[in-house]
Amino acid sequence: MTPRHDPRLKAFASDNYAGVHPEILQAVAAANGGHQIAYGEDVYTEAMQAVFQRHFGETARAWPVFNGTAANVVSLRSMTAQWEAVICAESAHINTDEGGAPEVAGGIKLLTVPTPDGKLTPELIDRQAWGFGDVHRAQPKVVSISNTTELGTLYTAAEIAAICAHAHDLGLLVHLDGSRITNAAAALDVPLCALSTDAGVDVLSFGGTKIGLLYGEAVVVLNPDAATGVDYLRKTFMQLSSKMRFVSVQFEALLSGDLWLRNARRANAMARRLADAVRDIPGVELARPVEANAVFAVLPGDAAERLRKRFRFYTWDESTGEVRWMCAFDTTEEDVDAFAAALAEELRATDGDH
Ligand SMILES: Cc1ncc(COP(=O)(O)O)c(C=O)c1O
Repeated sequence: MTPRHDPRLKAFASDNYAGVHPEILQAVAAANGGHQIAYGEDVYTEAMQAVFQRHFGETARAWPVFNGTAANVVSLRSMTAQWEAVICAESAHINTDEGGAPEVAGGIKLLTVPTPDGKLTPELIDRQAWGFGDVHRAQPKVVSISNTTELGTLYTAAEIAAICAHAHDLGLLVHLDGSRITNAAAALDVPLCALSTDAGVDVLSFGGTKIGLLYGEAVVVLNPDAATGVDYLRKTFMQLSSKMRFVSVQFEALLSGDLWLRNARRANAMARRLADAVRDIPGVELARPVEANAVFAVLPGDAAERLRKRFRFYTWDESTGEVRWMCAFDTTEEDVDAFAAALAEELRATDGDH
């Protein structure tokens, strides 16, 4: 079958606009043929557990699921009783971009905190960590952070450790939405466990899709005392894949060597290149620090509208017109340079209009 799309075309809308890394597709093909026990009792899922343990420690256990929203819902539900609640940044994906799934599907109360940069701190957690023992208040139980954050910023290992220490002192658990934990670790040049297990995180949603998988994320329980019933909850939330070998083998291919790191480094480097290429173009204002694979900018006039006809990307904040440009594992230097040149052209055109 010939492709129905032009495989040379790249967008800057999201890292999940990218296709599948060839090494992942090869791994899926290698796992094909013959029969394997369904629902996760296959040899690929067993091998995947060992690979997760190598990265996250001997007590880590991973449950593959279909998408990131589900990884978050299953993680948070496994960490909370019905009367308990989750503290998160107002900008957190679980609060802004999951169609209400944590509340509607998971039945989980979110206690949100406004933040300047998408990051919680011990002080910001305290804005919602109160009312313990008050039957009128949903009881705070989990602090959920994202690394990288939805605003493209990073938590360092020390910042996560400080959050975990504070949360644990209050009797709270810590969940990390690691949809882009690979980008964060690559940017900080630290192992994945430095931003999770070693810092005291209890449960991690590990992201695979945005870093080159066909599909697949994982609930990774780092502290076995922090979560209950994940086996059952995964099925309850319709996330138990029958042909699980094809999800598991993708994680093995991603994490057994350095594919995750190569992909994350490339995506991050391309965002840096993009920021450097556009920051001095008159009219472009970079709106946030570029710390991993996202670039946020404000453009004058209708430049964004015009540019969008050539490259797809999203408006992040309708009220300010701020746009977000994401780089993926397959973004090339030529893609970035072509995008920057198109942006400069559209801005010259905008200028000429006035
Ligand atoms: C930080 C973060 N968490 C979770 C998700 C959810 O992933 P999915 O779209 O696979 O449900 C995303 C997706 O964009 C994300 O950016």
